[in-house]
Amino acid sequence: MIMRYENDLICENLSVNNAGHLCLGGQDVEVLAKRFGTPLYLMDEDHIRARCRAYLSAVKDAFGGRCRVLYASKAASYKYIYEIMREEGMGIDVVSPGEIHTAVCAGYPMENAFFHSNNKSDDDIRAAMDAGVGYFVSDSSEELLAIDREAAARGIRQNILLRLTPGIDPHTFEAVATGKVDSKFGFGIPTGEAEKATKLALSLKNTVLCGFHSHIGSQVFEPDIFLRAADIMLRFIALVKSKYGFEAPMLNLGGGFGVPYTAKNPKLDIPKTIGEIGTFVGHLSDELGIKRPEICFEPGRSIVADAGMTVYTVGSVKEVPGYRTYVSVNGGMTDNIRYALYGSAYTILPALKMNEARELTADVVGRCCESGDILQKNVLLPRSIARGDLLACLTTGAYNYSMASNYNRVPRPPVVMLHGGEATVAVRRETWDDLVALDL
Ligand code: LLP
Repeated sequence: MIMRYENDLICENLSVNNAGHLCLGGQDVEVLAKRFGTPLYLMDEDHIRARCRAYLSAVKDAFGGRCRVLYASKAASYKYIYEIMREEGMGIDVVSPGEIHTAVCAGYPMENAFFHSNNKSDDDIRAAMDAGVGYFVSDSSEELLAIDREAAARGIRQNILLRLTPGIDPHTFEAVATGKVDSKFGFGIPTGEAEKATKLALSLKNTVLCGFHSHIGSQVFEPDIFLRAADIMLRFIALVKSKYGFEAPMLNLGGGFGVPYTAKNPKLDIPKTIGEIGTFVGHLSDELGIKRPEICFEPGRSIVADAGMTVYTVGSVKEVPGYRTYVSVNGGMTDNIRYALYGSAYTILPALKMNEARELTADVVGRCCESGDILQKNVLLPRSIARGDLLACLTTGAYNYSMASNYNRVPRPPVVMLHGGEATVAVRRETWDDLVALDL
């Protein structure tokens, strides 16, 4: 049998069976599409768990016991995921009362949760304290004071970290480059704001400053960038120790580990990168005369992205003579906004025709009444592609369901988890009645 798509099987959980069908986690995509309908988000639960374990063992090797891995749950947030994180012993990063509520509903132990966001309202702060969130990662002096006030009213002392911007441009897509100083996030180290915020935090009576946080951006492939961030953060810890006598016990280095979406992307060796960071942190801490802080990482995408796949049914194949061919599918920007928003690359495969030659170049477009509703341009597909065929968009486990919308009143697809040859609905398909449920 001729395998024509070997290069595009970009993750080890993808395969092609004897029928020439694409499989995820060993399960035939056609069988799953028939059982659950399309569009359909599939998630390889075994892969998610394997990623959690790989991270936990890498940080253990690199830092001994003094480390945590927090799943950045904005990447994919629903009860089932928080249950996995609870079972795997992962911490979590949450960014809104909605994510907090979802985690609480999943029975997640909230003392292991870190609450981010550049603007936590008083209500958000109250909701997070009601839920017993372990750490607040604070982004502004107004917010620090508000957290302190609410903690005082409750007679508690709230653990906090300060989010700092080390001033690194991770050479990634501008909109996700958050470690730069010109950012809505964090207190800038180069501008002196970080030091001022530290002084303020140290003066508060109802908060406990536990350390510092930085997240330099997303889809980072160069290990050096993480080392540069660690360097700046450790030097800041040393400065604060020498000037204010406060030695930060915790340093959260954020997430951002890159994931390949196409065969052209590089592959980042995450355990190796974490090992390098471990060695670096050890040496530099010794050199600076500071105690090695407990290190946290906050990966989102690299835990769930390539566990995921979205399956669509083709509706029409339209050739505009002299221009291009459009292949329309029954989903689009409502379940995957990332091409429309960032021009993100994806691998799209003909799930039932994996052994056919790909000689047709087409734009795969969605069903919304909007020309910008494009999933990917210039996709190579078999000439026989036609209404009723299945297309699989790979690597959709991160920031797809979580950024989905009901534009055009399109219901959101279900999320189905694959584990040990079984399939379980984690989030059911939205119905038309769900769409009017909030309308009065
Ligand atoms: N920690 C913090 C504070 C973050 O802001 C983020 C992502 C992460 C961790 C996780 O980063 P990751 O490991 O997933 O790269 N919607 C965009 C991604 C935005 C990321 C925002 N922050 C996308 O679809 O690419």
